[in-house]
Amino acid sequence: MSGHEFASYFPESGDVVDYADTSSNIDETTIAEMHEIAGRYPEARSALLPMLHLVQSVDGRVSPAGITACSEVLGITEAEVAGVATFYTMYKRRPAGKHHVGVCTTALCAVMGGDILLESVSEKLGIGEGETTADGAFSLERVECNAACDFAPVMMVNWEFMDNMTPAKADELLDALAEGQTVHSTRGAELVGWRESERVLAGFNDGRADEGPAAGAASQLGLDIAKDNNWHAPEAEQPKRRTRSTKEAK
Ligand code: FES
Repeated sequence: MSGHEFASYFPESGDVVDYADTSSNIDETTIAEMHEIAGRYPEARSALLPMLHLVQSVDGRVSPAGITACSEVLGITEAEVAGVATFYTMYKRRPAGKHHVGVCTTALCAVMGGDILLESVSEKLGIGEGETTADGAFSLERVECNAACDFAPVMMVNWEFMDNMTPAKADELLDALAEGQTVHSTRGAELVGWRESERVLAGFNDGRADEGPAAGAASQLGLDIAKDNNWHAPEAEQPKRRTRSTKEAK
């Protein structure tokens, strides 16, 4: 797990996508699935975000061929597609790893050790932020708040939560993934590869959305305390009914 072959930063070029790599796995099936996604929306162009996830599930990144395919299916320009693809950090211009790791270092995770965690994961994988290991097994990024602050510090692997992480737990997790072991999110779901997760985000259900709890114990603690103390929200004030004035009634 070392090397920097697929560095994702490209300050020298500023290219929208990596045009040096024109490889693509997009075929007739992918195009048909793009039409299927577009058909789910009253305005076809609303389908662009899930379509870009589909491109990533097939090509491991937003490829030049993916940009062209999205523009042709939606009848919009490649510049419009690229403008969206480059706005969101979830779309990758260089190949992400089989397992994409995100470490949150926003305020609460930082207070709870997020930066130390990121440093330790970076050292373990031998890559920096925005890079992919030479064997394509892992990629790493610093992520913003995952709305999981009650489980800080939080790591994401292929968009699944790894709560209350420590450098030691992360080490163990990365070793297990590198050995191809079955690994579960701390919330229950079995981890699949990044590309498989991208396909789910494209709107192709893998039937596993209900694995694990919808909300963890830490998120429900306030509710439990309220129940124990029989606390209730005050009743909402009923809106006053408008009565017709005598003059209006005439
Ligand atoms: S600050 Fe990390 S999940 Fe909110």
